[in-house]
Amino acid sequence: MKPSVPERECREAERFVREEGDHEVPPPVVELEQVSKTYGDVTALAGAGLVVRRGEMLAIVGPSGSGKSTMLNIMGTLDRPSAGKVRIDGHAIDALSDRQLAALRARTIGFVFQAFHLAAGVPALDAVADGLLYSGVPRAERRRLAERALRRVGLGGRLHNEPHQLSGGEKQRVAIARAVLGDPSPSASSRGGPKLLLADEPTGALDSRSGEVVMDLLHELHRAGTTVVVITHDRDIAASLPREVRIKDGRIEHDSGIAGSDNGRAAPRAFAAEHSAAVVERVGR
Ligand SMILES: Nc1ncnc2c1ncn2[C@@H]1O[C@H](COP(=O)(O)OP(=O)(O)OP(=O)(O)O)[C@@H](O)[C@H]1O
Ligand SMILES: [Mg+2]
Repeated sequence: MKPSVPERECREAERFVREEGDHEVPPPVVELEQVSKTYGDVTALAGAGLVVRRGEMLAIVGPSGSGKSTMLNIMGTLDRPSAGKVRIDGHAIDALSDRQLAALRARTIGFVFQAFHLAAGVPALDAVADGLLYSGVPRAERRRLAERALRRVGLGGRLHNEPHQLSGGEKQRVAIARAVLGDPSPSASSRGGPKLLLADEPTGALDSRSGEVVMDLLHELHRAGTTVVVITHDRDIAASLPREVRIKDGRIEHDSGIAGSDNGRAAPRAFAAEHSAAVVERVGR
């Protein structure tokens, strides 16, 4: 579902890319501009602005209840904002129907959820293969892809284990295998994962050794080209990532990727290049 990009907008975006200087700035994968989310009288997000560019890996930190999971769910198009603009991989999500959103999600995004529960009695291979249940991929191919993903996370020897026969770290790796299945198209498979991986406390319930294995996997996906966003309470993990975004009371309090905090002001610049992703591909990057 590539956007058809009118010639004029292409030229404008090309100019933007040039104006960025000699080194090309990767196109944004996530753009949030003044995003708010309220649940009744609870304000979970209060005007958050964030731009994540292709190939980045960043930590989102902040106190419990500060809005981290809410923001990740919005980035993942699982939830729509109450106010503000959200653009994912160049698509303005308010312009998409729920069905189009589901397609964008299936094509682009992998999730590792905070409270990932593997259904009891379901072997690892099926748990992962079921991630493609609604993708139109035939069953045999789903299982082949699932097996490959499980081997990739080091669980080739646990394909038929049920959740109660897996350690906590192994269960989390099953969740990652399911997340990296993403887009089964040949180009995506050769990239080795989804374009955007969103992980909510992937190491939260693990001992430090299992946590390291999971983080190593996320780093490996990042090196293979996946943009990775990780919510974490672990200061060491946050400090070890190239960028740290701190949330407090539903706002971005600090972003190490931007000089000073932005609180929604950084996003418009990225919005100006709304079609740069398509252009960068066209100009042969
Ligand atoms: N579906 C919901 N209905 C009502 N309130 C909600 C809902 N989801 C989240 N909230 C509230 O929104 C606020 C932000 O929640 P969120 O889950 O984003 O926090 P968090 O930063 O991920 O916290 P934690 O570190 O504990 O996971 C909290 O006050 C929470 O109670
Ligand atoms: Mg949370």
